[in-house]
Amino acid sequence: MTNEQLILEAKKARENAYTPYSHFQVGAALVGKSGKIYHGCNIENAAYGPTNCAERTAFFKAVSEGEREFIKIAVVGGPEGADADVTCAPCGVCRQVMMEFCVPDQFMIVLADGKGRWMELSLKELLPLGFGPDNLKA
Ligand code: THU
Repeated sequence: MTNEQLILEAKKARENAYTPYSHFQVGAALVGKSGKIYHGCNIENAAYGPTNCAERTAFFKAVSEGEREFIKIAVVGGPEGADADVTCAPCGVCRQVMMEFCVPDQFMIVLADGKGRWMELSLKELLPLGFGPDNLKA
């Protein structure tokens, strides 16, 4: 699957975003090592704190279905009622969740800008010196 196709999948996922508070809608499409694609959207909450980002929704869906190794994720975001036309980089919490399941210099994050362009960065670039499972090994 090309990055352009994966971005289209993320756009589809964004259609389900539940954003009555921020009105900022995000979609993600995560590729597992099995080749399966997991879609995620942000899901907000009246208590604000329980809000789940699109990226984590995709990861938690995947892990709950038995997938634990991942290749890449595409993320699109932007204000409700408009195309996803701003680059939406994963928040720190989502980067940390990626750190749990991904090889930092191999897992790629595709960020679309909504104008037909995208950039691809590794998790290591987005989370340098990240703390992960290896840090707890003796
Ligand atoms: N959000 C995501 O879903 N992913 C990101 O990468 C950044 C932020 C969501 C959380 C919240 O629902 C809204 O965007 C505004 O922060």
